[in-house]
Amino acid sequence: MSSAPPVPSLPPAPAARAAAHAEPLVAFRGVSFGYGRRMILEGLDLEVPRGQVVSIMGGSGCGKTTLLRLIGGAVKASSGSVRVAGQAVETLRRDDLYRLRRRMGMLFQFGALFTDLSVFDNVAFPMRERTDLPEPVIRDLVLLKLHAVGLRGAARLMPNELSGGMARRVALARAIALDPELIMYDEPFTGLDPISLAVISNLIRTLNVALGATSIVVTHDVRESMRILDYCYLMAEGRIVARGTPDEILASDQPYARQFFHGGIDGAVPFHYPGADYRTELGLAGHDR
Ligand SMILES: Nc1ncnc2c1ncn2[C@@H]1O[C@H](COP(=O)(O)OP(=O)(O)OP(=O)(O)O)[C@@H](O)[C@H]1O
Ligand SMILES: [Mg+2]
Repeated sequence: MSSAPPVPSLPPAPAARAAAHAEPLVAFRGVSFGYGRRMILEGLDLEVPRGQVVSIMGGSGCGKTTLLRLIGGAVKASSGSVRVAGQAVETLRRDDLYRLRRRMGMLFQFGALFTDLSVFDNVAFPMRERTDLPEPVIRDLVLLKLHAVGLRGAARLMPNELSGGMARRVALARAIALDPELIMYDEPFTGLDPISLAVISNLIRTLNVALGATSIVVTHDVRESMRILDYCYLMAEGRIVARGTPDEILASDQPYARQFFHGGIDGAVPFHYPGADYRTELGLAGHDR
């Protein structure tokens, strides 16, 4: 990771453009994190202003899901700070962390539904687990959430009776069950046909507005996500290497951004995994061509 090319100066982060006093809902400051000794994030800075839909993009394995786990406090930064709604996640006691998590909704990368629960019971699950609401109130709330994703009529179906796109929408209804302030989506578009994909991306945008929430969307899908985003961060080498509004980032000539958004097998992210010199490995070193 230390061999990364220098990162040119970046345009101001979105919060710097907004009113200076408006504290972002999520702020990473110099965050480093590794699983064991293997570092994944190294001095990462990022801000998510309230009310926006912000995406985190980057190659497979660069640490996007890890970044969401840091926000939810499932793992802790080894240095730097992750602040959510003004609280430093890594310093919270268990009770406070649980309280903060209740304000977050998460659509998991392989967001499986509980296969032995109906659609209705899947969405009711967080309400029953985490609130003392009476059953008639839960019923109305579940129908409201299912209505929001267009699946009120599917309430009695079991997960194995749903298409992939429908299942994703049920998972979305479950993620917003408790009216979260922050909704995190981990690869919400994977494996969907173009119509289901457009439905999900429109829902991400409309739910953000309807709930007055803030959304973080981790995705590889440049084309679909650019339609609904306010701001985009591109990760590589354990940090943010490019950021901007969709227009800015698509026009960027930052090498990582160019390669990621306009395709290219070789570039700032090399095609070859680091290895010994090829000629040496072939036993040709020292021989003239
Ligand atoms: N629990 C874990 N223990 C050890 N290493 C892990 C663990 N979870 C993830 N990793 C490693 O950390 C790196 C980052 O993983 P992460 O899941 O955050 O990547 P990602 O950007 O979400 O990838 P993808 O786009 O494929 O989902 C990967 O190299 C992965 O192998
Ligand atoms: Mg991931």
